[in-house]
Amino acid sequence: MAAPAENVASGPGRGTICGMTPDDPTPAGRALDLAAAFLDSLPERPVWARASYEDMLAALGGPLPASPSDPASVVADLANLADPGLTATPGPRFFGFVVGGAHPAALAADWLTSAWDQNAGLTAMTPAAAAAETVAAGWLLDVLGLPAESSVGFVTGGQQANFTCLGAARHGVLAGAGWDVERRGLRGAPEVRVVAGADRHDTIDIALRYLGLGTDAIVTVASDDQGRIDAAALRAALAAGGGPTIVCLQAGEVHTGAFDPLGPAIEAAREHGAWVHVDGAFGLWAAASPSTRPLVEGIAAADSWATDAHKTLNVPFDSGLAIVRDRAAHRAAFGAQGAYLITTEAGDPFDLVPEFSRRARGFPVWAVLRSLGRSGVADLVDRLCRNARRMAEGLAAGPGVEVLNDVVFTQVVFALDDDATTDAVARRLLAEGTAVMTPSTWRGRRVIRCSMSNWSTTAADVDRSLAALAAIVGDVRGDRT
Ligand SMILES: Cc1ncc(COP(=O)(O)O)c(C=O)c1O
Repeated sequence: MAAPAENVASGPGRGTICGMTPDDPTPAGRALDLAAAFLDSLPERPVWARASYEDMLAALGGPLPASPSDPASVVADLANLADPGLTATPGPRFFGFVVGGAHPAALAADWLTSAWDQNAGLTAMTPAAAAAETVAAGWLLDVLGLPAESSVGFVTGGQQANFTCLGAARHGVLAGAGWDVERRGLRGAPEVRVVAGADRHDTIDIALRYLGLGTDAIVTVASDDQGRIDAAALRAALAAGGGPTIVCLQAGEVHTGAFDPLGPAIEAAREHGAWVHVDGAFGLWAAASPSTRPLVEGIAAADSWATDAHKTLNVPFDSGLAIVRDRAAHRAAFGAQGAYLITTEAGDPFDLVPEFSRRARGFPVWAVLRSLGRSGVADLVDRLCRNARRMAEGLAAGPGVEVLNDVVFTQVVFALDDDATTDAVARRLLAEGTAVMTPSTWRGRRVIRCSMSNWSTTAADVDRSLAALAAIVGDVRGDRT
């Protein structure tokens, strides 16, 4: 029998869920206990995975079992076998790539989402999932200061959000040129021009490939030392051509965290009748705090916005948001039908995403927004920025460390003495295990990127990471002399 809730050990992941408790012998109860143990291990476990892919193949591999076995022991086996190959991405000292953690409300709601196993495509099939998305969409638009009439598609991440928004954009600009792309396709269509900054994220190019517009459609505009598009060069590029045009801007460059000059850039695009899309995978959240809002001034005048909930908002993977001002364009591009379905006149969630059937991603987004509220989201953004500045100051104080960006948001990019030293430090940091930051190339130099994206990171985590890094830099330099 399940233990009463008050007898259950407390901790980040503990408590009761659907009447199950830790030590519950059911597979779900066992999973809850194992998940709680993983969460409890996050502050101290090595951040980078200890085992390799090959180790994991050996541990998890073998022939397909000939016959069934007990699901609860399979879950326990999975947790034990996979553990050395797991990375502490939801932990407080994972600063690699741009990876958010999992806020407790979002994580627990995500567990419920799996248990409920709702197919969020149709309103009629799961009114709760559809309503959670509608309500969460309204809260998102409110907290981000975007037009209230916009539609929001709950997709898997930034890539799909860019794809979905640019699908709506493709519809919008071609409809404006008298071409029905959903019916006629692209053969014989007016050429679509996509004007974007040199430091756009790769997922913009990938989305254009998916959409059949092709990367040759891109007119690349120069950007400055922080990766911000040059507004004057954008204006000149727009004037140099014509026809259906999409302008892609960026709120948050992946190395520097820099924001394009959105106000002037959107104004220039408007003068040329272009559709303006903003990739704000992590940076759109600057709009949620009064202290960072000036970075995105003018953003509400764009036509579409891509962002992730699994980055700055700290919803577990996978959770992206495709926001489109013109709901009709959004629905025209992705709307679905089927005689056997029970559709809703006003539209269904599957009209706004590339998937037909899908997970009810709105529940965790609803939960984290309800838990944090307006001030909590602003505090989260401010805390991430504060930690990024603390990290940058600590790094810059180290001899031979050069912080290469203006730390305006959550990203810090730095280099050491030379490329070889930078790479060696990046490699050792992963092996040492205190913190994870990941290598890249920026403006021709090998660099290390630090992305401050986790809700649970404290100033002490920043200091501990700096100390580990300083020791590694000392060791690397010692080895090289
Ligand atoms: C600016 C930007 N756009 C798009 C993406 C892609 O997002 P996702 O990995 O969620 O698909 C990222 C990822 O870091 C990003 O930084």
